[in-house]
Amino acid sequence: MTAPATGLGAGTGVLSAIGSTPLVELTRIFPDSAFRTFAKLESHNPGGSVKDRSALGMLLERIQCGELIPGKSVVVESSSGNLGIGLAQVCRYFDLRFICVVDPRTNQQNIAVMRALGAEVDLVTETDPVTGEYLPVRIRRVRELVARTPMAYCPDQYGNPLNARAHRQTMREIVEQLEGRLDYLLCATSSCGTLRGCSEYARELGLPVRIIAVDAIGSAIFDGPPGPRLIPGHGASVRPALFAPDLADEVIHVGDLDCLIGCRLLARREAILAGGSSGAVLSALDSIRRRVPAGSVCAVILPDRGERYLDTIYSDSWAAEHFGEVGRLWEEPTVEASPC
Ligand SMILES: Cc1ncc(COP(=O)(O)O)c(C=O)c1O
Repeated sequence: MTAPATGLGAGTGVLSAIGSTPLVELTRIFPDSAFRTFAKLESHNPGGSVKDRSALGMLLERIQCGELIPGKSVVVESSSGNLGIGLAQVCRYFDLRFICVVDPRTNQQNIAVMRALGAEVDLVTETDPVTGEYLPVRIRRVRELVARTPMAYCPDQYGNPLNARAHRQTMREIVEQLEGRLDYLLCATSSCGTLRGCSEYARELGLPVRIIAVDAIGSAIFDGPPGPRLIPGHGASVRPALFAPDLADEVIHVGDLDCLIGCRLLARREAILAGGSSGAVLSALDSIRRRVPAGSVCAVILPDRGERYLDTIYSDSWAAEHFGEVGRLWEEPTVEASPC
C-alpha cells in the first residue's frame, strides 16, 4: 500500500479524495443571527456523501491486514443508499466483489450508481411480519449470504467501531478548519458512526463543544416513539450498537416536512443542493437559534448532495402529495434587482 495521501490513509487514486471536504460559512440561511454557521460539505466526497468515509474506514484496515483479499473476498452489506455507493466505490477500486442487499424502497438512482460501480444488488421483497419493516429482513438476508458465500465479510455499519473511528477525522477537519473555535456541532444520525466519531474525538481532546444529535421523528435511535418516515438517510428503525447515551449533549427530532423546508431554504438562500438530513440539521439549528449565545460558532455536517432527492424533496408534486398545500413555506418574495 502506498503512503497515505489523506488523513484516512487511502493511498492514491479516487479514494485519496475521500475526506478533507470544504467547510463553508453560511451567511444567508439565518439572516440577522448573532452567531456564525459553518457547513461541512460531505457531498464533496467522490461517492457524494459522508458514508464514503465509513466505507473506506471499515474496509481499508481489513485489506491492509490481509483479511480481505482483492480478487477473492466478497463484501456483503445492507444499505439503501449512501453507504452502498461508498462500499461499491471502495470494492471496485480494490477489486472486491460487493453484494448490496436492498429493498423496494431503495431509490432506483442509487441502485443504478451501485451497479455502474460493479456492485451486485440483492432485493428483498417481503417486510418483517412482526415489525412491518424491511430492515430485519435485509439483515437476515445478509447473514444468509455471508454464511453461504466463501470468503464473505459483512462490515456491519451499525456495530463496527471502524465506522465511528473514520469520523474522528471528520471532527478533526472541522476543528482544524475553524482553528479550534467551535461551540456547537449538529450531526444527523443513523448508524451513529458520524456522531460517535465526532463526539469521541471532541471529548478526548476536552473541547468545550455542545454536540447536538439530529434524529428523525419516528426513528428508534433515541427515546422517541417509532413511526413512519418518508425521507431516507438519517434515522433508524432499531437502535444501533454504536449508539451510547452520552454521545450527544442534546437530541433534536425533526419531521419530514421540516427536512424539506430546511433543504428548500438551503437551496434558495445559499445555492446549496443537499439531501434530506442536511435540511434536518438546519431545521434543528433554527429551532435553537434563540438560545445560541451571540458570537457562538456553530458547525453543521451536511451529509450528502441533493441530486438523489430530485423526485422527492425537490419535487413540488411529491411535496403536495405528502404535505398538501403547505403554504409553500420555503418560498420568499423575490427582491427586485436594482439597476447598477
Ligand atoms: C444522508 C445521510 N444523512 C445522515 C446519515 C447518518 O450517518 P451515520 O450513519 O453516520 O449516523 C446517513 C447515513 O447513512 C445518511 O445517508
